[in-house]
Amino acid sequence: MSIKIDKETCIGCGTCVGLCPSVFGMDDDGKAKVISEDDLECAKNAESACPVESISIE
Ligand code: F3S
Repeated sequence: MSIKIDKETCIGCGTCVGLCPSVFGMDDDGKAKVISEDDLECAKNAESACPVESISIE
């Protein structure tokens, strides 16, 4: 499994970082980045919560 952020569609709302600070961080470009893939369960919650569906888990 790997967690991906679509940088084209991410609006930098920070919901994913708030929900899973161990998995997501904010990148220098103001968009989210994946910092760890240790907590897939949390990442799945963030995938559902992202308002623009920029998170994918494959
Ligand atoms: Fe971006 Fe969605 Fe996170 S808009 S900052 S990937 S919740």
